[in-house]
Formats: sequence, C-alpha cells, structure tokens
Amino acid sequence: MQYLINIYMLIRLFVVSLFFLFSLNAYLRDDLSELEKQKVDKVLSLAADFSRAERSEALSGGAGTVDKIGKNAFSHHFKNLSFEERQDFLIGNAFFRKVWIASPSSTTSSDGLGPLYNARACQSCHIKDGRGHLPKDEKPLSAVLKVGNYKNINLIPHKTYGKQFQFFAIPGLSSESALSINFMANKYINAMGSRLALKYPNYQLSSLKYGNLDNDTSLSLRISPQVIGVGLLEAIEESDILAKQDIYDKDNDGISGIARIVYDNKGIEKIGRFGIRASTPDLFVQTGTAFMHDMGLSNSVGSNAFGDCTKNQDECYKFPTGVNEKSLHEVDDEVMNKIVFYLSSLSPPKRRNVSDKDVLLGKKIFYESKCTSCHTPKYVTSKNAKHNFLKYQLIWPYTDLLLHDMGDELADKDMNGNITNKEWKTPPLWGLGYAKEVNARATYLHDGRAKTVLEAVLWHSGEAKSSLKYLLDNHKNNLDKLEKFLKSL
Ligand code: HEC
Ligand code: HEC
Repeated sequence: MQYLINIYMLIRLFVVSLFFLFSLNAYLRDDLSELEKQKVDKVLSLAADFSRAERSEALSGGAGTVDKIGKNAFSHHFKNLSFEERQDFLIGNAFFRKVWIASPSSTTSSDGLGPLYNARACQSCHIKDGRGHLPKDEKPLSAVLKVGNYKNINLIPHKTYGKQFQFFAIPGLSSESALSINFMANKYINAMGSRLALKYPNYQLSSLKYGNLDNDTSLSLRISPQVIGVGLLEAIEESDILAKQDIYDKDNDGISGIARIVYDNKGIEKIGRFGIRASTPDLFVQTGTAFMHDMGLSNSVGSNAFGDCTKNQDECYKFPTGVNEKSLHEVDDEVMNKIVFYLSSLSPPKRRNVSDKDVLLGKKIFYESKCTSCHTPKYVTSKNAKHNFLKYQLIWPYTDLLLHDMGDELADKDMNGNITNKEWKTPPLWGLGYAKEVNARATYLHDGRAKTVLEAVLWHSGEAKSSLKYLLDNHKNNLDKLEKFLKSL
C-alpha cells in the first residue's frame, strides 16, 4: 500500500512539475537568445532614479521615432522605412483617407458604402490619426455607440440594431437613431486647492427607427482612439503580455489584469490587443471590422455586403451593393493589407521635455503611485515582428494591453442603469501630450468624458482605487507635476 502511494505521489509530482514548466514556458520569449534575454530584462527593469531621464526615453517608438510637432504630429511614418516602404505608406494613407460612396456609382472601386454607416472614411473618426470626440450639436461622427447584451466580456449584437447604432444612411434610407448628450456631474474630488466636479456624458437616443430597446439592453459609448504606434503594439511578444496577467490577483496588489482571448481571421486564438475592450487580435481584423460595422463595406473579415444591417431591417436589402462580378467583397484584401501597412508604420511622436525637473518629479509620482502596474512603461518588441522597423525596438507605450475593472462609474450599463461591464483595456499613453494639438476637441477616457488628462486620472477607480488614493493622499499639491509628465508623453 505504502509503495502504491509513493508511486502515486511521484506521478503527481511529475504532472505538477510538467504543468509548472509548461506554464513558465508560456511566459518565456522564444525569439531571443539567453544573452539577449538578460540584456532585455535589464533594459526593462523599472526606473528607480528620477534625477535624470533614462536612456532613449524620449524615443517612444524606438529608433525610428519621428520628431514632429503640431497638427500632423501623428501622421508620420517611422524614420527608418525603405524607399519601397515609403511608397506603400503613401498608398495606405490614401486608402485610410478615402471617402467611400454608395452604390451604384461610376467609380466601382470606391462604392459599397452602407446602407447604414457611421462615417465614410477611416480618417473621419481617427482624426489626423489621432482620437475622435463627442458630438456637440452635430450628429456623432467620430464616436460610436455599441449596443447589445453582454455574455461575460462579449457584447452580443442587438437582434435588430446590430453591433452599433448607425447615425447615417445612404440616400433613400433613414438612419437608425439620433443621439443627444448632456453632461452631468456625479463625482466630486478635492484637489489642487479646489473642489472639482467630474462630469460624465448622459446620453439619450431618440427617433429609434426600429423600436425601443428592452430594459436589459446594454449601451457602450466610445470615442475613436488614436492609431499611432499600433504596429509596435502588434509586435509585442504574447509572452510579455501574459507575464503580467494576474486573473486571480495572486500577488495581492488589488490588480487583476486579464488578457482577453479572441480569434484571428483564421480562427486561431490570440490575445486581444486592439479596440477599447481589446476585442480584436491584430490590425487586419481591426481594419475589417471597421470597414464592416463603421462603414458598411464587406471584406474577408466581415462579409455582409449590407454591413451592420440585421435581418430585422428589411429595407436595407433593397439597395444595391458594391459587390460585382470582379469582386467577392466590396473591399479586397489588397486594400486591407495596404491600410494595415500604413497603420503599422505610423510612428508615435518623440517625447518632449524628458529632462525637465517638473516632468521628472511627475514621473516619480507616476511610479510611486503604481500607475505603472497597468501602464507598463516599456517593452522590447519581438525579433519576429513583421517589418524590420518594428523588430527588436525598445518602446514606451505605457500599457499592459490587459483588461481591468475600472469601477462602477466608468462601467457600461443597461437601459435600467444596471452595471453590465466594468472592464477596459489599459490605453497606451504615448502621444497623450499631443492629443489636443492634433484635434483641438480631443478629450480622454473611453467615452471622452474627461476634458483634461488630470480629470482622466481622477476618474480611476476599481482596481486603480489604491493607486489614486496613494496619489491624492501623498501628492495632492503636486498634481500639476504629474500632469506635466503625462503631457510630456
Ligand atoms: C465611425 C468611426 C470610425 C471609423 C469610420 C473607423 N474607426 Fe477605427 N475605431 C473606432 C472606434 C470607436 C474604435 C474603438 C473600437 C472598440 O472599442 O471596439 C476604433 C479602433 C480602431 C483601431 C484600434 C486602435 C487601438 O489601439 O485599439 C484601429 C487600428 C482602427 N480603429 C483602424 C481603423 C481603420 C483602418 C478604419 C477604416 C477602415 C477605421 N478604423 C474606421 C472608430 C472608427
Ligand atoms: C488598474 C489599472 C490602472 C492603474 C493602476 C492606472 N490606470 Fe490609468 N487607465 C487604466 C485604464 C483601463 C484606462 C482606460 C479607462 C477608460 O477609458 O474608461 C486608463 C486611462 C488612463 C488615462 C487616459 C488615457 C486616454 O487616452 O484617455 C490616463 C491619463 C491615465 N490612465 C493615467 C493614469 C495614472 C496617472 C495612474 C496612476 C495614478 C493610472 N492611470 C493608474 C488603467 C489603470
């Protein structure tokens, strides 16, 4: 009997250690040699000396980072592109800016828009490759309102309205709804010697063309994020992201980042990196999803030539599509790949004032307040990245690409006001200081509720509660320094 137990214990030990080895292996990079691994580990250790800037700290996007300011700060490619790559960038840029039209038209290569749509060009939402904004008196153009029912993290599209509300439609069809927003204060914080009232966008839908929404339907308002540096985010090794995942908060720091698992175009499981809730794994799927749902243009990712129209929206199907005998979809893979290349080569701008005394103090506050628990400062990208200019670069995006519970106030709610999803992906912070230069109406957080970067910080709650508490308990009168640091990014 004793003998059997011993064998049993041995087998158990073997299985457990195999499992342990396997799970450890999952977090080890296989693109680097032992020596490179040691070097990378050293470079990536968190700063402890705040008396001066770190080496290469200003080069947010690695060696090819552009040094341009002003309105076009987000619209430049990396400096180290080859001649051919520069040509591809220009072609991709043309497609990103291209204004699509309804079918039928004489220019068949540009038609197929809608029937329902949110915008006619990628650039209309990602304004000058930067973020969008909430509407004031106009129809929402660079903000999107998703609709449906949550099944865990996934938003199941609404049976009639589809994945999101389209506020535009081609001639002859009316849009799904109209949206109006008024700002309401529901959070007050004493900081910087005054009482700040934080306001959130309270929105109402009117003229709902296909009937009212059920009480358990959820809505999720999002402004378009910036698209700089996305090629580098795609080039981060999966193991580097998984290494920070901590679903059950085993290290007990109150923070439990989750890597969202989604599917790529070939049905393979990948980590979600793009979208405000990390719903897409790569730039190809993200681009296809955008064509399909934002613009109503079919492609190899989303193949309905009627876009986000559902079977409960009969009228949609009376309109001609942009599919013809020469094309399977309204947008072919060649165009998609050109856009993906364009996105991949957009450089984050070089940082400003990295050695400024106040900026360094702000950086210290950022680190001490453990903002770095989610806003991971730096990575070294994969040696297997798709393009030379993305390979083995030291980059500074300030994100872990994981989902975090950010508290009740930022959460999505259903029509009854019940909270239905609190998780958001940590957004990259690079380019933060340029946001308003690129789009004067730019604001912050997923739904654009924060007018300043500081307001964005003060809305943090949930898993970021203790980080914010530390900040307010210890640095209440130095928030301007933190702001200077954030704006130097
Ligand atoms: C109607 C506005 C709109 C249009 C048009 C639009 N987007 Fe977006 N885009 C968004 C929003 C909103 C998100 C966030 C989506 C989410 O949370 O799922 C987004 C996300 C993205 C992202 C991910 C950024 C990140 O870091 O997470 C990329 C890349 C992108 N869009 C590219 C494109 C491309 C390419 C096109 C044109 C084919 C396009 N978009 C058209 C609104 C738009
Ligand atoms: C628990 C993880 C976590 C911690 C800790 C955290 N953040 Fe964030 N941060 C996020 C997430 C997630 C968002 C997006 C929330 C949203 O859009 O509703 C965000 C958004 C932001 C934004 C707005 C970015 C934009 O593009 O709109 C800023 C600025 C920011 N954080 C700064 C900070 C600072 C400063 C600290 C430390 C005091 C901090 N964060 C701590 C997860 C975190």
